[in-house]
Amino acid sequence: MPNIIQDIELACDLIKQGQLVAIPTETVYGLAADAAQDEAIAKVFQQKGRPQTHPVILHISPDWDLSQWVEYVPDYAQRLIERFWPGPLTLIFKMKPGAVSLRVTGGQDTIAIRAPSHPITLALLEQLSRPVVAPSANPFGKISPTTAQHVAESFKDSALAILEGGRCEVGIESTIVLATNLQGPKILRAGVISEQEIAEVAATQECYLHEEVRAPGHLSQHYQPKKPLFSFQKLVQLHNFIKSNPDEVYVLSFSHLEGLPYHYQFSDDVQQVAFELYYQLRVADDSNAKCIAVELPPNQSYWRAITERIIKAGQVYIESSGSPLD
Ligand code: TXA
Ligand code: MG
Repeated sequence: MPNIIQDIELACDLIKQGQLVAIPTETVYGLAADAAQDEAIAKVFQQKGRPQTHPVILHISPDWDLSQWVEYVPDYAQRLIERFWPGPLTLIFKMKPGAVSLRVTGGQDTIAIRAPSHPITLALLEQLSRPVVAPSANPFGKISPTTAQHVAESFKDSALAILEGGRCEVGIESTIVLATNLQGPKILRAGVISEQEIAEVAATQECYLHEEVRAPGHLSQHYQPKKPLFSFQKLVQLHNFIKSNPDEVYVLSFSHLEGLPYHYQFSDDVQQVAFELYYQLRVADDSNAKCIAVELPPNQSYWRAITERIIKAGQVYIESSGSPLD
């Protein structure tokens, strides 16, 4: 059984001994290992059931010297760091050869680095005085955890230590920005720090969503609940779907809907929706409903981080003659 702990010093000792510890960050909980211990990093992949080729993010304290790991920091990346660290922004740099184990980078010549802002993890990093690697603390392909309890539920059969840090205040994973090109940044994973905010700080028009499939966040299926999940672009389709199975569907909507046995209505504020998204998907997954139906947000880039995650959590519903529950 996992063990939820409060003691930062204990967490620090366990990590130094090469054990895994789930740590709170402002985005989601991470499954942390000492970045200097190859076997500890191997355990992260094992615990998550994650393919070896998927690189992991190095978590550091915001004032550590990046030149230990990074060949160069473009000017725009320096501005992004000054504006958003510590916080929910991951930057991918050209790596200094040999700076970290190949397990961290999945054998690539780039390295993803982030300085989380959660005070408990910042304190842990200060005590450790060296980085940890930390993918989200969920089994591969499943929903990321935003509470210590969620981590414990995902790894029931392990003796994992989980450092309690309350509910994550951002609620979805960090925005990932490729910062290897001197000309300008590219966004690899949308997050609560939006394309517009990145473009403003980086002073570039060249900031756009990078389409090349590289990061697992770009797999077509990710963030998946146990129950079948359907997402809906059109309210009328959602209505039709609910009508045919009203007692079996857990509905997460932006629109105001009445008289449903299982229903949660999101607000119209992106940050607030990010805070609730994974949390409410888990509530829906733990309910007695047979499936989950989610209304997609408006089709605007502002909502991209939310839209992408909902779409990857299941399948976009295409109306057909039969019920998907048949
Ligand atoms: O908010 C977050 O970023 C959370 C918390 C725990 O910090 N972490 C997180 O890690 O979401 P993970 O491993 O679940 O997702 C990190 C993503 C993966 O899609 C990985 O492939 C990508 O970052 N990534 C890491 N290093 C990379 C690299 N060198 N090049 C391209 N993608 C990279
Ligand atoms: Mg993840």
